[in-house]
Amino acid sequence: MKRLLLLLVLILPAAFAQSGPVLYQQCQGCHQPNGAGIPGVFPPLAGHVPDILAAKGGRPWLIQVLLWGMSGEIVVKGVKYNGVMPSYRQLGDAEIAALLNHISTQWGNKFPAGQKPFTPAEVRAQRAKTLTPAQVNSARKALGLK
Ligand code: HEC
Repeated sequence: MKRLLLLLVLILPAAFAQSGPVLYQQCQGCHQPNGAGIPGVFPPLAGHVPDILAAKGGRPWLIQVLLWGMSGEIVVKGVKYNGVMPSYRQLGDAEIAALLNHISTQWGNKFPAGQKPFTPAEVRAQRAKTLTPAQVNSARKALGLK
């Protein structure tokens, strides 16, 4: 009996921890299952996340978009967007890391050479300073994305 309980204690959290693909179901209504977004309404993640990762400061910024959301005009590959990206601060550090690893490796996306997958500790570090969605947009300008 004790052994069985121990086994359950070990197995259950793993069974309930949500994986990247499951978590992405919360995103796909806007960014679409294929990550292509909707031109002019929801920006693409496919073929675009690697550009963000490769930009100087892009990696911590990507964590910030998930934690704090974003609002205000942006331009992605010449197309303008001016919507609201919701904040996902309610998710745990491991879940945000799983989501970021998912969108960094789906639809042909890849981490730039030398970059490792996101870790929960890396996500936690970005929670220290609360940003508004507008501040996340301002911070995006410093990345020099085209
Ligand atoms: C309600 C629609 C909606 C949902 C749901 C949503 N997003 Fe977004 N997302 C947006 C919009 C709109 C923008 C652009 C915001 C702007 O114009 O400032 C955006 C921007 C982004 C960006 C930054 C793109 C760039 O070039 O700046 C990333 C990364 C992103 N979303 C990932 C996600 C992930 C991952 C999820 C799920 C956890 C998600 N989004 C859920 C609407 C959404």
